[in-house]
Amino acid sequence: MSSIESYLEAQQDGFVEELCDLLRIPSVSAQPAHQGDMRRAADWIEQRFRRMGFSTEVIPTSGHPLVYAESPRVENAPTVLVYGHYDVQPAEPFDLWTSPPFEPTRRDGHLFARGATDDKGQMLTHVFSAQAWIEVEGRLPLNLKYLIEGEEEVGSASLAAFVRENRERLACDCVVISDGAQFGPEQPAITYGLRGIAYYDLVLTGPNRDLHSGSFGGTVTNPANALARILAALIDEHGRIQVPGFYDDVVPLSERERQQMAALPFDERQYLEQIGVSGLSGEEGYTTLERRWARPTYDINGLSSGYQGDGAKTVLPKSAAAKFSFRLVPNQDPEKIGRALRTMLAALCPPGIQLELDEHHNTPGVLIPMDSASIAAAARAIERAFGRAPVYTREGGSIPVVSTFHEALGVDILLLGWGQDDDNTHSPNEKFSLVDFHRGIKASALLWEELSKPSR
Ligand code: BES
Ligand code: MN
Ligand code: MN
Repeated sequence: MSSIESYLEAQQDGFVEELCDLLRIPSVSAQPAHQGDMRRAADWIEQRFRRMGFSTEVIPTSGHPLVYAESPRVENAPTVLVYGHYDVQPAEPFDLWTSPPFEPTRRDGHLFARGATDDKGQMLTHVFSAQAWIEVEGRLPLNLKYLIEGEEEVGSASLAAFVRENRERLACDCVVISDGAQFGPEQPAITYGLRGIAYYDLVLTGPNRDLHSGSFGGTVTNPANALARILAALIDEHGRIQVPGFYDDVVPLSERERQQMAALPFDERQYLEQIGVSGLSGEEGYTTLERRWARPTYDINGLSSGYQGDGAKTVLPKSAAAKFSFRLVPNQDPEKIGRALRTMLAALCPPGIQLELDEHHNTPGVLIPMDSASIAAAARAIERAFGRAPVYTREGGSIPVVSTFHEALGVDILLLGWGQDDDNTHSPNEKFSLVDFHRGIKASALLWEELSKPSR
């Protein structure tokens, strides 16, 4: 392993340069204007695998293409499937970026760019680690398959079908995903739970045009007023979501898990400081970590209606719209919640308003058993790379394909986040610490060795 480590050290600048090349491609999956960039990013990744001697394929879908690659066959060795995504979230608002989102810039030990940590940088750690094995040892100690998609940030619709239809091709002993965070700086983690999500677009339409709010106000239902009331009715002052039956299937946190979470070195003051707020709120009766990782939530993600320009305009808008979503915990059924929500909204809709609810993506939450040989191997690799044992965490975010893998392939899943909570994912000035990047590559190289050990 020491020669692999020296190789990794010698290649550090080259790896950063390559990551920068990929980061320069603005592969924003949500915005149709970037369709060509999606294809360019997929091609870039395919070429990267091809140069390593892997068999590769860019697979078209009804959305953005998938990249699939396989390492040269190693007999009598396990097979690992690496998942990652090359799509990124929109970079808006652009003016809040210190350096432009698609011109990767090194500053203070970090690389700043949209996608630096989510997920291009983390995904590439598993590519560079494989290259190191091939260059130094002439071969990998196991078989690697890679499935890199371009629709994660918009719900992974195409991937779910692909996984179900390609079970044999994707057959493996475990799945490895690095698309999340460590518990904190210098404190690596293995993640055993993710929340799910159910995302909606709500549009309220009233009069046939914007109206003078003096002439008509007080007689016509104002769609913006109606929207504010409806959105507020979905949650009470104790942070409890009001959709009927919403909590029916929520599995309560066990006393043991609550103790384990409480034992993690979580610094609430630092959390407040990092976000720049003076206080926290959430569902009553739960700690901050419990609320982030293991309790369902309701958040408005976008609001639009009425006059948005400078100064005042006395207008009664003809329509109002909101994007909102629930984060779900394991065992909650997004479809069932969608039905209950629809019924509730219909009952809340005032006269003179037409209500339209569109369901975007949804995905259930997941919990991963911690007692597998793969988890033990990952813990060893992480301890060797970081000089510190991992803690076991859940995450509040969602990775839709995880539940699909779980169902369709029935194998162990390793969620090994190399990033940090303050990497500004989905925000301006997204960044990835170069130390985290290089250590992720090293941990990945050690992971291939640990997963190949016959003890499994
Ligand atoms: N990498 C994130 C998920 C994540 C966030 C994992 C934080 C661990 C910690 C992923 O790219 C993401 O943003 N997922 C979306 C999924 C959605 C669009 C279906 C999310 O969670 O909003
Ligand atoms: Mn991600
Ligand atoms: Mn993301």
